[in-house]
Amino acid sequence: MQLLDGKFVSEKLKQQIAIEAAEILVKTGRKPHLVAILVGHDGGSETYVASKIKSCEKVGFNSTLYRYESSITEVELLKKIDEINQDPETDGILVQLPLPKHISADKVTEKISPEKDVDGFHPVNLGRMQRNLPSFLPATPYGILLMLQEYGIETSGKHCVVIGRSNIVGSPMSILMARNTNPGNCTVTICHSKTPDIKKFSLDADILIVAIGKKNFVTADMVKDGAIVIDVGMNRETSTETKSGYKLFGDVDFENVAPKASWITPVPGGVGLMTIVGLLKNTLASAKKEIY
Ligand code: GUN
Repeated sequence: MQLLDGKFVSEKLKQQIAIEAAEILVKTGRKPHLVAILVGHDGGSETYVASKIKSCEKVGFNSTLYRYESSITEVELLKKIDEINQDPETDGILVQLPLPKHISADKVTEKISPEKDVDGFHPVNLGRMQRNLPSFLPATPYGILLMLQEYGIETSGKHCVVIGRSNIVGSPMSILMARNTNPGNCTVTICHSKTPDIKKFSLDADILIVAIGKKNFVTADMVKDGAIVIDVGMNRETSTETKSGYKLFGDVDFENVAPKASWITPVPGGVGLMTIVGLLKNTLASAKKEIY
């Protein structure tokens, strides 16, 4: 078994991003600028947004964080997004999900200008992605592609099984793995909550991507010998063992699955760190006007 080391790869790619950001600053006199919006006080979201902002600083981007209480109305939030859409000093906008129930994530996603949609969630970017046109790719799937690329993992002709069909990971991931690109060119199966026997499919997977949000969902008996296993799970549990007061668990029973896998991502230290790289690369591409 070999580790797909998100810490190593993300640090390496962030160094390259920092070099490009410095070049942009010399050429244009400005830094790439990401605006993040956080509504409410969800513990996971607080941590992820803080980490995104810190990474911006690290690679020499500007960042702005707008924080709102859960009581903000949908109209107020949409108005703020409109304002940022118009601001020529902003290259990328992200609204951290999930949002409170009274705010429609779909409306918010569609309000963000596709040209600043560095999360790649806008239907215009998703449609362009599906057509293999220049687009911002959703940050987590993008990070996974970068990881596969970095380790030179051949995906063409392989059977890729994606467990989970979320808008953020499972659904775009399945499209990307089936596209005529490298990485890509897989035969793709998507499993979800209504799939009666997930094991039947997962056992045939050469590449198994798990994004279902359930701790230890994938056990060793569900994995083929030599499979490549990508664990997108970010299941937080409170813990007295850590300084932060919580511990992160993946969707894969790492201890028992790892000996069977040819390659596997750890949690933490795997896909989560690559998501941030995907976001930074999109923001850089926006500042360089590479997509639109
Ligand atoms: N919530 C979980 N993952 C993500 C992400 O990649 N972007 C945003 N905006 N919210 C998330």
